[in-house]
Amino acid sequence: MSPKIDIQVGDLRTVEVEAICCPVFEDVELQSSTQLVDQATGGQISRLLELGDHKGKLKQNTVLYVAEGLKAPRICLVGLGKMEKLSLESIRQATAKSMTTLRDLGVKSAACWLPDGVTTEQVQALVVGTKLGLYQFKQHQTSSDDEQSESKSLEELLLLVPDKNSKVSVERSVRIAEAIADGTILARDLTNQPANYLTPTDLAETASRVAQAEGNGCLDCQIYNRPELIEKGFNALLGVAQGSQEEPKLIQLSYRPDNAAESTDTVVLVGKGITFDSGGLSLKSGSGMMSMKDDMAGAATVLGTMQVIGKIRPNLNVIGLIAATENMPSGTAQRPGDVVKSYGGKTIEILNTDAEGRLVLADALGYAKTFNPKAVVDLATLTGAVVTALGRCVAGIMGTDQELIDQLKAAGQTSHERLWQLPLFDDYDDALKSDIADVKNIGDGTAGAIAGAAFLKHFAQGYPWAHIDIAGASEYLKGNAYLPKGASGYGVRLLTQFIRDLDAKTI
Ligand code: BES
Ligand code: ZN
Ligand code: ZN
Repeated sequence: MSPKIDIQVGDLRTVEVEAICCPVFEDVELQSSTQLVDQATGGQISRLLELGDHKGKLKQNTVLYVAEGLKAPRICLVGLGKMEKLSLESIRQATAKSMTTLRDLGVKSAACWLPDGVTTEQVQALVVGTKLGLYQFKQHQTSSDDEQSESKSLEELLLLVPDKNSKVSVERSVRIAEAIADGTILARDLTNQPANYLTPTDLAETASRVAQAEGNGCLDCQIYNRPELIEKGFNALLGVAQGSQEEPKLIQLSYRPDNAAESTDTVVLVGKGITFDSGGLSLKSGSGMMSMKDDMAGAATVLGTMQVIGKIRPNLNVIGLIAATENMPSGTAQRPGDVVKSYGGKTIEILNTDAEGRLVLADALGYAKTFNPKAVVDLATLTGAVVTALGRCVAGIMGTDQELIDQLKAAGQTSHERLWQLPLFDDYDDALKSDIADVKNIGDGTAGAIAGAAFLKHFAQGYPWAHIDIAGASEYLKGNAYLPKGASGYGVRLLTQFIRDLDAKTI
């Protein structure tokens, strides 16, 4: 559970919470606020540092118990490493570690001091680190063997600031960061949800809830059901859906700023929403299928981002499109060798029904053109090949517009949801030539991630386009301080940063 975050003018020595947090750097003197706490406790912090018991641990954190001098009974020393190496990422990591340490001790309330001059980005890193670090997905556990964790949650985080002026600016940064973290948490929750709990219909219902709850009227949700999909010719999506008992959905969330003008730019975000990918008749192996409830992570990211957009209200039109279906084998499933006509009219020979993500995206990308967009970005757990190439700490990006790719890469650096570009030379097109249709849905077995993008390129025509393959980055197998094992919610912070950067340019 996320703590309630309050901002107050105050002092660490007198604040009534169960723990106060003090940053400690390896290479510089104690910060002045920490010095005051140290003096109030008769030098407890400097004593520890002198003794050196913490050595090697300062990248983590140490909890000190205090008998007198403070209102709070505990000090959590937050190890931030070397000051010269301080980064937004080290703040996220260190905050996540200390907040989870406190939570696991059973602490319910904590306070941090924000010195004068703390930047908006640093405040946001602290809030994001806190909320994402404390994230847990426990909905399906009726009793937990570590009985402690059940009742343990950090309920309140107080951010103490020196004066009223800084309170106003910190408050604003905190609320934006909370919106971004909540969007990421929504994406994680949806992605972690098993396929028997999250169908395309459930995704659509979530989208309409997000529009109602968060949009304050500026988010509109439209769901295209099977009859409209047939009427409008979303045949590639329908083809994937035809083996499943679940109804396919094309979900459209539209954000318009209050005073949108004719000339206001539109950005379209497209998400792959396969709520379960069995591979279809080109069936996956048992182990290959085990994580395939995650195959809607792109959709979850688009939904999470649209929730954030509804809250932070940039001065741009943003459309979120989600192509949602299951990919199942059955007597009605599409067959290898089938040919379908996609939304824009191009025909596709389906030679492997497990390359289904690119099929549903083909329709969504074709439809995206109707918005006359300035940019289209799709996110998809598209290929195993991108996991082989890049692992899980970064997503692969390809596209037709280098400026757009560079903007996304820059947003990836700021948000630490990093991107690595793979080439999309025309040379890769040959492998996708079909004997009987305009294009086939698999390449020649080499450069799998690029072949996926080269296929999509056929449908992403008429606008600047970037494709982000998140098959690796969407799920953590091991986890770190604020990326626990399971769904990462990758992309919400990246896309929000990208939109905010575009928005800043228009002001
Ligand atoms: N959903 C998978 C990609 C995937 C694999 C995501 C592993 C996460 C982890 C996708 O639909 C798929 O099956 N792709 C095939 C494409 C191939 C048949 C051309 C793949 O990557 O093997
Ligand atoms: Zn597949
Ligand atoms: Zn898939």
